[in-house]
Amino acid sequence: MDNPQLLRIQDNLKKLKLNRTDQRLESLLQEASKNEVSYTDFLDRLLEEEIALKFEKQMALNTTLAKLPYIKTLESFDFSFQPSIDPKIIRELATGAFIERAENVVFLGPPGTGKTHLSVALGLKAIQKRYRTLFNSAAALIANLNKAYAENRLDDKLKYYCIPKVLIIDEIGYIPVDIHGAHLLFQLISRRYERGSIILTSNRGFGQWGEIFGDTIIATAILDRLLHHCTVINVKGESYRLKEKQRAGLVRKTLAVEPILGGDTELISS
Ligand SMILES: Nc1ncnc2c1ncn2[C@@H]1O[C@H](COP(=O)(O)OP(=O)(O)OP(=O)(O)O)[C@@H](O)[C@H]1O
Ligand SMILES: [Mg+2]
Repeated sequence: MDNPQLLRIQDNLKKLKLNRTDQRLESLLQEASKNEVSYTDFLDRLLEEEIALKFEKQMALNTTLAKLPYIKTLESFDFSFQPSIDPKIIRELATGAFIERAENVVFLGPPGTGKTHLSVALGLKAIQKRYRTLFNSAAALIANLNKAYAENRLDDKLKYYCIPKVLIIDEIGYIPVDIHGAHLLFQLISRRYERGSIILTSNRGFGQWGEIFGDTIIATAILDRLLHHCTVINVKGESYRLKEKQRAGLVRKTLAVEPILGGDTELISS
């Protein structure tokens, strides 16, 4: 291209960081003149494409910043395998209205039943709606708060965890939390209360939270704030992981209810 006007246009597109138009300028112009596209339609198309590209880039960056453990979507969740989950409730959550109201979501259920999958999927929907989202395992979150406390910067860390509109706390209950860790978690949940949403997963019923934290008073205080404005989804049923092992012939018995908690399924490989 040696037309000075086109060169200037390309230079200006670079300065304005309108990358998609810059890359496709020649073909867009040729197409427009061939199809006799109106000026309005031409401009409309350019702007739409630029905005779509910027949105894709923003989504990719925000997905990285969210530190999701894997990418799983609502579309890839097989609701027929887990009939205890009402798809209507999940679809309502996917609209993000609960985030606007700073409400929480708790997934309770045995291993492999889709708690983390659905938390990640709702996190992705939140990112699509431009809500800052951050995923943490409960153990890592409490370890980070403990470290910040020891280094005299707890307040900064609590502020950091209050920035995202959606904070996912995964796997409460797998590892016992000492009383100091429980107090730190309580402070975080209190700070976010009615200000930002928490999506939390646990393999233990609320009645057992006193055991997780070694203290019923602190467990009750955490639950009181967490559950005040909250959708609780109780997942019952079989582990999807086990279903996949069965399909692959790695599990002998077909009954797979609560296998890791002592069902009569026999694992022959892990
Ligand atoms: N109904 C489902 N449809 C499709 N995939 C599923 C379904 N349930 C679970 N999975 C898949 O099975 C695996 C285990 O699910 P997930 O990690 O969500 O389990 P979990 O309930 O968080 O278990 P844990 O308590 O052990 O962490 C993941 O790969 C997930 O994508
Ligand atoms: Mg999980």
